[in-house]
Amino acid sequence: MASPAASSVITALPETTDPLKIYTTIASLRSYRHPLLSTKSLGFVPTMGALHAGHLSLIRTAAKENDSVAVSIFVNPAQFAPTEDLAVYPRTLHTDVALLESLNAEFSADSTTRGRIEALFLPSVAEMYPHGIPLEENAQRGAFVTVQPLAAKLEGITRPHFFRGVATVVAKLFNIVQPDIAYFGQKDVQQSIILKRMVKDLHFPVQIRVCPTGREVDGLAMSSRNVYLGERRRAIAPVLYQALRASEDEYRRLAAQGGTVDAKAVLAKGLELLQPGKDVPFEIEYFSLADLQELEELGTVDPKKGAVLSAAVRMSPVEEGQGPVRLIDNIILEAEE
Ligand code: PAF
Repeated sequence: MASPAASSVITALPETTDPLKIYTTIASLRSYRHPLLSTKSLGFVPTMGALHAGHLSLIRTAAKENDSVAVSIFVNPAQFAPTEDLAVYPRTLHTDVALLESLNAEFSADSTTRGRIEALFLPSVAEMYPHGIPLEENAQRGAFVTVQPLAAKLEGITRPHFFRGVATVVAKLFNIVQPDIAYFGQKDVQQSIILKRMVKDLHFPVQIRVCPTGREVDGLAMSSRNVYLGERRRAIAPVLYQALRASEDEYRRLAAQGGTVDAKAVLAKGLELLQPGKDVPFEIEYFSLADLQELEELGTVDPKKGAVLSAAVRMSPVEEGQGPVRLIDNIILEAEE
């Protein structure tokens, strides 16, 4: 009889000359990783699939900085509220696998890239959540990770379940994959701050690397959920980044005068721009200037400490069959040397 590890290693579905190794069970992924723990550094890119250029850029960085790369695709139920889009979240496995295989072809042809994608991990919900994972939090059973009070701020105000779900699944993935470095996009700045705190407080031997936000040519931050926007909302969506940039410019102008910077003046510049149109309505959930450690709202910014400008808007449906779409984005105002 085949061992559980061997029977759960399958090759990718599309035709290719260099198929990706796909691991669908925890035992099989561990049997890949375990013998390499002390010999090969592993960069890990956890994703929920529907891969876009932002994900590919994280994987390219991981391949440059490590001997090998693992990618996971797992649409994590624990980070969706019962009212959210778990059932319709974009699932594009065939395209994702083809993209990862083309990345490996690119890495083989590029002498500056050390690693290649050696493992695609596609765990099942049943194995990741052995007690099941109902979306109502009070019906959930088992072990969960919370990072307080960071998880209750900003995104946590309208999505109180979200970071508990993210921290829990990432903790599970780190325990299974045992990477040296894990790669996340700056677009989800609060997620990366929370995961850094989790890694520190729970003593995970993993480094968190945060890479620049992937952007469309008009500045819109890349997101798997942008496919929900439709033409009319997509045309308006870049205003979020434009508003953050306007606030950033105002911050730099005021900081150049010396001393601390008034947060209200910085935020006002962005908010002037962030005006919903009559035919494409949206609601500003937050437009924030907070410190980089605790995400506390600031009255004044000390340029020596830096800060994070971040925002979320909720765009209402404008056409038949659409649901609301949330857009988030941020700019880090780096601490001065
Ligand atoms: O950023 C994401 O795609 C998800 O939150 C993550 C980190 C893969 C956890 O499900």
